[in-house]
Amino acid sequence: MNRIDEIRKTAKEPFKKIIEECEESTVRCISHNDADGICSAGIIAKALVREGVPFLMSCIRQLTEDFIKSLKNEQYKYFLFTDLGSGQLNFIEKYLLDKSKVIVIDHHVPFENENENLDHLNAHLFSIDGAREISGSGMSYAFVTALGKNRDLSGVAIVGALGDLQDMSGSLHGVNREILEEAKKEGIIKVERDIRLFGRYTRPLYKSLQYTINPYIPGISSNINGVSELLKELEIPHSVNGKARRIVDLSSDEKQRLASALIQRLLRAGASPEIAESIVGENYTFVNEPEDSELKDAKEYATLLNSCGKHKRADIGIAIIVGDRGALEEARNLVEEHKNTIVEGLKWLYENPLKIKRSDVLQWFNVERDVDDSIIGTVAMMGMGANILDRSIPVVAIAKMDENMYKVSARGTREMVDRNVDLAEAVRVAAKKVGGEGGGHDVAAGAVIPAGKEEEFIKFVETIIRRQLGEGKS
Ligand code: C5P
Ligand code: ZN
Repeated sequence: MNRIDEIRKTAKEPFKKIIEECEESTVRCISHNDADGICSAGIIAKALVREGVPFLMSCIRQLTEDFIKSLKNEQYKYFLFTDLGSGQLNFIEKYLLDKSKVIVIDHHVPFENENENLDHLNAHLFSIDGAREISGSGMSYAFVTALGKNRDLSGVAIVGALGDLQDMSGSLHGVNREILEEAKKEGIIKVERDIRLFGRYTRPLYKSLQYTINPYIPGISSNINGVSELLKELEIPHSVNGKARRIVDLSSDEKQRLASALIQRLLRAGASPEIAESIVGENYTFVNEPEDSELKDAKEYATLLNSCGKHKRADIGIAIIVGDRGALEEARNLVEEHKNTIVEGLKWLYENPLKIKRSDVLQWFNVERDVDDSIIGTVAMMGMGANILDRSIPVVAIAKMDENMYKVSARGTREMVDRNVDLAEAVRVAAKKVGGEGGGHDVAAGAVIPAGKEEEFIKFVETIIRRQLGEGKS
């Protein structure tokens, strides 16, 4: 049996129940506001509309105790959490399970909890690696396909997985691969082996190069002169008959020259072979989207949704997923805004080397209010890719949210996880010790902690990572 079918088997009853019991009572849906969370929300929304089940959907940044407490007052019979919730089952039990039924569909590291009013569908409970093999939208897709329908939503599940960077190695793996096969069978997605740069279909070549900040290519990313020189050197014309060329317009010979030049640059700048080589790999393309659409390339689609979420407009993202192409115009502006915010964040890292502190097992920086707290995780990750940060030890980024709270994002690499580093555990335990809340995945985790506790928090994270590394060796 495919592993996704195991999830479907468990999902069958809760999905059936929600359809039968909620024809007239509204289901309260809560999802995460990143690309994966928005895809999860879109998948659930579309499936519930098809079944005639009324629902109210919110996409939120973080599921806190206060938020769950506030849900208690809403008094819904059914709550459905997607791409979050597994780390907060204690609060869900405390505030919701006595009066309501709750379904949690998630892929973050879970708390175990058994309660007759709770259906908990978490990747890890099926022994599936939630950081790499399936996303929140993949889990949501398994849920809504449990009764045999909705396979046309497979493409959205792929977008969610890409939003959570589950193709980091150059392609999708595990259950994501099974979903991909279904998407191919449905005629929704095709796989193209190609250079993996932003805007393959939608941007002129030089812009794709200039805009590629993940990985950050020294002398090319955000550097239009560098791009011109490179193209001249490689004898790749940026336009033909006055018309700008895109990545997809290059001949295979030109693509090969460009790819090896980019790989060389990355390696020369100290990038790991894995990151450098991931410049070439699988691209997932929506067969039926127009050629010039931002939704053609699934990764670009994910970037667009992420931009909507980070700018508090998850509703625009959901509208696009359920088919409202009119929302695209607004989303485009958000993408521009998002890119600018990230470039500002990277600039901060370049300009403040002294603010990057480190020990032998951890590095950290506090941007205070200089950089938007919602993107510090992205900036931390890109900082590692750009070699501004050390790629051999985890990084913790901190930003001030408001007078009372600081946002924390921790990022690592696969290689660190192989050495036993688990950032979800480190951040969750350290946050709890200083009166905050956190969790996530082994390679990427986040938390919110009280103001004034930043240094104490870092010390706890450091101690836990040191212990994890020690245990890894033995
Ligand atoms: O917020 P950030 O992008 O750094 O979060 C990294 C990962 O950690 C995400 O998957 C997020 O859902 C998770 N997270 C969490 N609990 C928090 C903050 C973040 O589980 N309090
Ligand atoms: Zn997710």
